[in-house]
Amino acid sequence: MADLATKPGARARPEFRNIHVSQLSQYRLPLAGIVSILHRISGAAMFLVGIPFILYLFQQSITSEISFENYRAVVGSPLGKIVLLGLVWGYLHHFCAGIRYLLLDMHVGVEKESSRTSAAVVLGVSLVLTAVVALKLFGVF
Ligand code: HEM
Repeated sequence: MADLATKPGARARPEFRNIHVSQLSQYRLPLAGIVSILHRISGAAMFLVGIPFILYLFQQSITSEISFENYRAVVGSPLGKIVLLGLVWGYLHHFCAGIRYLLLDMHVGVEKESSRTSAAVVLGVSLVLTAVVALKLFGVF
């Protein structure tokens, strides 16, 4: 149920407890919540897609000359590059967010403002690094 928070001097804003599915569209997840969900999604994606895909590519690259050509075709195709880029983003986000969680576990940056800042840094740094890899992958430099 959404109630209006009533701290003196504070702007009235809805406060959600035991959120109902019908309230999902009104609920604004904080930045740290977005980072947390993406950390779980990226961990699962690396495990379920990343490991099988990398093992497949590795096998194709060493089995024979024909399979090596197949490996080159897969990693050279736009779809292959997009899948690789998705995995690169997953790894970079997971790595940066993982470092943030390890620091939080040591009680570093647990205050609301610094936690919000570090969540923004995780999102920003992982996206910038992914953009650099994308430029390299698509042959810009
Ligand atoms: C190399 C850098 C990595 C770091 C620093 C890191 C860090 C972390 C940390 C701190 C957690 C616990 C988060 C929490 O307290 O909820 C975690 C969870 C997890 N990690 Fe990693 N990790 C790394 C790489 C990987 C890789 C390569 C994979 C998969 C192939 C992976 C898969 C997962 C999964 C599935 C979870 C559980 C996610 C969840 O339940 O929310 N991690 N990681």
